[in-house]
Amino acid sequence: MAKPKKIGILTAGGDCPGLNAAIRGVGKTAILKYGMEMVGISSGYLGLLEKDYISLEESALSGILTLGGTILGTSREKPFKKMHQLANKKPELIKKNYIEAGFDAIVCIGGNGTMNTAALLSEQGLNVIGIPKTIDNDVWGTEQSFGFDSALLIATDAIDRLHSTANSHKRIMVIEVMGHRAGWLALYAGIAGGGDVILIPELGYDMKTVNKYLKKRLKSGKPYSIVVVAEGIKKPQNTSAAAYIASKIEDGVGVETRNTILGYIQRGGSPSPMDRILASRYGARAVDLIADGDYGKMVMKKGVVISDLPLSEVGGKLHLVPEDHPLIERARGFGVCFGDPLSE
Ligand code: F6P
Repeated sequence: MAKPKKIGILTAGGDCPGLNAAIRGVGKTAILKYGMEMVGISSGYLGLLEKDYISLEESALSGILTLGGTILGTSREKPFKKMHQLANKKPELIKKNYIEAGFDAIVCIGGNGTMNTAALLSEQGLNVIGIPKTIDNDVWGTEQSFGFDSALLIATDAIDRLHSTANSHKRIMVIEVMGHRAGWLALYAGIAGGGDVILIPELGYDMKTVNKYLKKRLKSGKPYSIVVVAEGIKKPQNTSAAAYIASKIEDGVGVETRNTILGYIQRGGSPSPMDRILASRYGARAVDLIADGDYGKMVMKKGVVISDLPLSEVGGKLHLVPEDHPLIERARGFGVCFGDPLSE
């Protein structure tokens, strides 16, 4: 087997802290450890369709470890979408452009959608390695995606700040955090920020339980409460999770209730030290796989070990919070309400 020489790299899907750390981890390992050439692909899979490339000399990789966002740009382009339509020539075009650019392999950094596409490109014969990133932590096959730890810091800081204003006004504060269909961020930030109620999509909830619990807190002399909700919980369309829950609480408990939607702040800014380390380790492992010609893999974390698994196993699955997650059990033990239906 000829040694891989030219590596393309792209970042796709929603951005998150740590993307540049991963690009740097891949790039520096490829250039310094293996003497490979690195090429940046702009705006996710769109750059492969439009042949929009950026040269990534080692100097371009200096000073980016701590930067938020992605120096390559990103997009939610899904080239295999509408594949049933014969008119979709995107996968073919990507293959043609990949060969024409002389790539020996490409590294695709992204979430579930990105890994799906990476798996399909791999099936088409392209040499692909995936690196999981997302603040939602919902990529199947890895315990942790980078971006999650940074978002957790931001969400926890926001909850910390709500405590003092909630206390001053004797209010109930509802805060909505991101996570798509997963409750990881709400669960972790809720516990780290001392949330009294935590609602996540995986568990479901009953407002009667929530309101009963909040009234009990009031009665016991607790002047305020913090309610952390994941954006993906069940709610009517055309309203946010936070606004919906806040209105139900105000009606049911009769206490002034405010809501905060943390939004894109959770995805911005410098990555946490843990995300810098995780992204760098993922990047380095991705290049080791390329050097070994071990393609069609996604790098992953299990315990303290960075390993990999076939991309074909990742597609179409979600890493959700298991109902029996030990943190949930512990939090119940110290009085957190998850809105479990009342057993009456
Ligand atoms: O996947 C990351 C994420 O921020 C989710 O938490 C959120 O639901 C979604 O992306 C928002 O998507 P967009 O960037 O398209 O608004």
